[in-house]
Amino acid sequence: MRLGIVGMGYVGLPLAVAFAEEGHEVIAVDVDARKVAALKAGDSYVEDISSERLAAVRGRIQASTRPSRLATVDAIVICVPTPLTPNREPDLGPLIGASTAVAAILQPGQLVVLESTTYPGTTRERLAPMLEESGLAAGHDFHVAFSPERVDPGRTDYTLRTTPKVVGGLTDTCLERAVALYSEVCDDIVQVSSPDVAELTKLLENIFRSVNIALVNELSILCDRMGIDIWEVVDAAATKPYGFMRFDPGPGMGGHCLPVDPFYLAWRAREFDMTTKFIELAGEINQNMPYHCVSKVERALNDAGKPVNGSKVALFGVSYKPNVGDIRESPALKMIALLRGLGADVVYHDPHIPSIPGHNIAGASFTDSLDGVDCAVIVTAHEGVDHDEVAQRAPVLVDLRGSTVRRRTRPPATSPVARSASLEDMAEHFSHPASGGA
Ligand SMILES: NC(=O)c1ccc[n+]([C@@H]2O[C@H](COP(=O)([O-])OP(=O)(O)OC[C@H]3O[C@@H](n4cnc5c(N)ncnc54)[C@H](O)[C@@H]3O)[C@@H](O)[C@H]2O)c1
Repeated sequence: MRLGIVGMGYVGLPLAVAFAEEGHEVIAVDVDARKVAALKAGDSYVEDISSERLAAVRGRIQASTRPSRLATVDAIVICVPTPLTPNREPDLGPLIGASTAVAAILQPGQLVVLESTTYPGTTRERLAPMLEESGLAAGHDFHVAFSPERVDPGRTDYTLRTTPKVVGGLTDTCLERAVALYSEVCDDIVQVSSPDVAELTKLLENIFRSVNIALVNELSILCDRMGIDIWEVVDAAATKPYGFMRFDPGPGMGGHCLPVDPFYLAWRAREFDMTTKFIELAGEINQNMPYHCVSKVERALNDAGKPVNGSKVALFGVSYKPNVGDIRESPALKMIALLRGLGADVVYHDPHIPSIPGHNIAGASFTDSLDGVDCAVIVTAHEGVDHDEVAQRAPVLVDLRGSTVRRRTRPPATSPVARSASLEDMAEHFSHPASGGA
């Protein structure tokens, strides 16, 4: 089989390697010439795929910036970004660009599958008509389906092969073709009745996480005020063998999916006279978390008799989740900007992020970060970073991930990480609610 993939990022590249490893020929198209050059050289830029693994199948992956190469393939999978516009509406620009390019070369009998996360109706109402600009009829001359990607960067216990793949086709034949395609690389295919169902399935998965993260984040703010250790509470609740699913608090949501995807549905729902309150509320709470976390830093420094202005604040871990080098939408970016706005001298240490383009900040070594530091903040707890040493050496510690707190059975009352709230503390919280508590 010959497969074409449009968009060779976190989703497209692992898919290309999976098909190539099964012996199929892959035409890999991306508008980014640097990615195409890297693919040709066998250099992986996605952490889950090692360069050795990519190089081993390089002979079966032909990378190109030219979509015209896709005219010879049996199936085309579109994996381009689906971001939001600055006013938080779906930005289908990359999808329109990719679809227009595919329409220009589309051949009778080809299957086109969209994997990009998007609102229900996109495949049927936007993709199929754009492809029909070719003069061919969707569901008759060519086939169309939607199959959401479920990749979780950094995860090793589930792979593309062992994660069930949801597929919805425009027609029964479209579905059959898409099922046959994915059966090459996935053990378990979940067939649904339409692309719309498949589109909404993906959004439900992401919104479920966004809402539950917001719930535990809100509780963490309350716990700060009440002097209760949120991680002790979550650890205890997680001992229930049924009816509870663990979510941990943190500095907010990052990555390409959770801060973005739910708003595709919120936008679409407005067309149906619906306000999706859970989505909006979860977004509001999660987006506010960096502000809350910066107020924790302010209060922790204040407790040590220091202002933020002029203090050296070291952030440990700035990618949006542990053990990956993805900085997209990371709450650390907002924290850096807010702390700098307050006059802090901000440094960071992150073995996965050597520098942060656009933020005029380069990563520091572990030792340099702690040298003369006034406050250390554990923002993302990567494996291999000695957070206990951070806790020992920093005069003030704000642990936003519970990575040091959780090692204790009971938090010492004097710790600035999780001290118990006195009545005076609570009085202050209520007289200064904007501080968000600490
Ligand atoms: N990253 C994840 O963990 C993840 C998980 C599930 C679903 N998704 C969804 O999959 C889609 C892709 O996400 P990603 O993380 O792979 O994005 P990405 O930014 O890593 O990769 C997308 C690639 O598409 C390329 N591109 C953009 N416009 C193009 C065009 N017109 N023609 C050809 N190439 C084009 C970009 O240059 C980029 O290399 C998004 O809709 C995302 O929501 C992502």
